[in-house]
Amino acid sequence: MISVFGSKVGKEELEEIRTSIENQWIGIGPKTKLFEEKFSERLGLNDFIMLDSGSNSLYLAIKLLSLPAGSEIILPTFTWISCATAIVLNNCKPVFADIDIETQNITAGTIAPMITDKTKAIMVVHYAGKPVKLNEIKEFGLHIIEDAAHAVDSKIGGKYCGSIGDIGIYSFDGVKNLAIGEAGGVTSNNKELMKKAKALRYCGIEKSGFEASTTKNRWWEYNVVDFFPKLIPDDISASIGLAQLRKLDELQEYRKYIWDIYQDEFAKLSWLNIPRDADENERHSYFTYFIRLNNDKRDDLANYLYEKGIYTTLRYQPLHMIPIYNSTHLKLKNSELLNETGLNIPIHPNLSEDDIRYIIKTIKEFGRKYNL
Ligand SMILES: Cc1ncc(COP(=O)(O)O)c(C=O)c1O
Repeated sequence: MISVFGSKVGKEELEEIRTSIENQWIGIGPKTKLFEEKFSERLGLNDFIMLDSGSNSLYLAIKLLSLPAGSEIILPTFTWISCATAIVLNNCKPVFADIDIETQNITAGTIAPMITDKTKAIMVVHYAGKPVKLNEIKEFGLHIIEDAAHAVDSKIGGKYCGSIGDIGIYSFDGVKNLAIGEAGGVTSNNKELMKKAKALRYCGIEKSGFEASTTKNRWWEYNVVDFFPKLIPDDISASIGLAQLRKLDELQEYRKYIWDIYQDEFAKLSWLNIPRDADENERHSYFTYFIRLNNDKRDDLANYLYEKGIYTTLRYQPLHMIPIYNSTHLKLKNSELLNETGLNIPIHPNLSEDDIRYIIKTIKEFGRKYNL
């Protein structure tokens, strides 16, 4: 079966892990610090801390805003559940907004009707790595949390996604563009927020004994700034991250190569819509390739591809349609339409040239079978 998402790890990652093991330091330590520095350097971030997942990074990001309980945070309904969970776990209310059908991104237009006097923040998700139009959204004057889980290599103007709002988060799970296994991280240009983030990630402890040993006598004593779980990464993960970071340009080039072939080939098919490319002042990350059918054959296509050994999926099932969020009364028509007509097809660094050609051939074959 050809998988829909994937990553490429190998000798370089093993080599980095080997040195951590040889140095007998596998928990959080020098490799984590180095990954944080190198990642910041690559994206031109003022500061960045690594955490154990993108989901927990979202949780921490919202905590950092210190919003009063009951505050409303607007987010796209067409996103991963962690986005809404992070809001609920911070005693705030997720308010779901529709997305633009072409870009799968939240817009100023879809946000505006959802704003109330309780709205305190907007969480944007750069879907597939296509940058959200942040300049227009900034006009609302609300806090902006940027979920750049798909957008590690995306840019708006000269700035990397994640570094433009109040707080940005990244995910480095096993299928992301920079794949670690389970990891993520948080960035902000606000020094106070980053100081707090560093304390929070380690059970709310201001300084670890090790850090404090150079500055005080009883270094084992600590201050706790808040109640918070432990969300720290480790040096084995950071080792993989360092190797992936060195390969990121190459990995991105290959994603773009596949993307461009798909764009060319699928533009010829009148029965499906291809995803939007980056606009002039933007850079895309090509995390996933999302097609929309303009007929009712999406499930048939998914099943046809499955039978032919090609795995596909739908990212995402609109959150407002899941009963736990008490939002099933909302009608968010673009997201609901995508729920019926959208499909993510394989794009990742482990696809071979033969896989790419086979996927294209099989999709075209399906069109012919149904006279589309
Ligand atoms: C948009 C988005 N945000 C957040 C996350 C959570 O990241 P993680 O899997 O690292 O917890 C994901 C994961 O797929 C995601 O797609």
